[in-house]
Amino acid sequence: MQSITLTRPDDWHCHIRDGDEMASVIGHSTRQFARAIIMPNLKPAVTTTDEAGAYRQRILSCLPGNADFEPLMTLYLTDNTTSDEIKKAHDSGFIHAVKLYPSGATTHSDAGVGQIKKTWPVLAKMAELGMPLLVHGEVTDPDVDIFDREKIFIEQQLIPVLDNIPDLRVVLEHITTREAVEFISAESERVAATITAHHLLMNRNAMFNGGLHPHHYCLPVLKREQHRQALIEIIQSGHPRFFLGTDSAPHARNTKESSCGCAGIFTAHAAMELYAEAFEQAQALDKLEAFASFNGPDFYGLPRNTKRITLTKESWQVPPDYPLTKTQSVIPLRANEEISWKL
Ligand code: DOR
Ligand code: ZN
Repeated sequence: MQSITLTRPDDWHCHIRDGDEMASVIGHSTRQFARAIIMPNLKPAVTTTDEAGAYRQRILSCLPGNADFEPLMTLYLTDNTTSDEIKKAHDSGFIHAVKLYPSGATTHSDAGVGQIKKTWPVLAKMAELGMPLLVHGEVTDPDVDIFDREKIFIEQQLIPVLDNIPDLRVVLEHITTREAVEFISAESERVAATITAHHLLMNRNAMFNGGLHPHHYCLPVLKREQHRQALIEIIQSGHPRFFLGTDSAPHARNTKESSCGCAGIFTAHAAMELYAEAFEQAQALDKLEAFASFNGPDFYGLPRNTKRITLTKESWQVPPDYPLTKTQSVIPLRANEEISWKL
């Protein structure tokens, strides 16, 4: 049987929610990952150091008994975030980044930033402290086609930010386009990107294959095959500024299978297995360890993990659902279908 052993990986972009939902999903992540960057888009959003500290405590107190897992907290940037709050976050030692959601871009982003330019003084403070900005890179202008929102964001919003704040460190999250790949590759050491397993494995046909598939709807939305190919090419290259971020985003089944369904794909149940499939298909299994376990900590200035995990080439069937709350379930990617690798 084929198997690969790698340094224990980290998830550099994860939604674990809160309360009952968190208690249900967190074990999926801790089973695989040593650390995860915890997204702050709760309701209400995690906008202060004190709130992030309280959220961290809730996470730690609901970890499965034997879990060896460190939540890396983030702050949610708003129009009202102050430089003092950034300093406090940085000094806390447990907040590792600040997340920029353009207001209205995605799930629970209504408290996000209206005009990015107004946040530049705060971003300058982050640059001074070396605190990375994590970016949901999509414009929200309703006149811009949803499939073009990432590309236009890079041109209209991200480039001016980088030009004006030369020391700001940025991670463009869950990239989906050739333009994003080319942009990050051409940028300097201070700019990196995360890539999800679902954007490596699927193109936009997966949303419409024989009917509408709400569990394949996420933001940024799946793109054309030529864009997926660009993501594949960059992981094949082993470029050090691209790394693993699942963007695993659980939603209750009824909120996805709805007349206005939520964006988000739940992949935490099989994240490493799904990445292994994608890297195998790309004939790039030898590049998986750096992508999953080295490039992220290197960018964030954190130590690499020392324990190891083993994935074996062994098919298993994903259950139809997993519990989310007492009454609701979440439908995982590949529900009722096979995955060819097992942790
Ligand atoms: O698909 C997504 N789901 N994209 C996001 O940016 C947010 C996430 C969520 O929180 O559900
Ligand atoms: Zn996300």
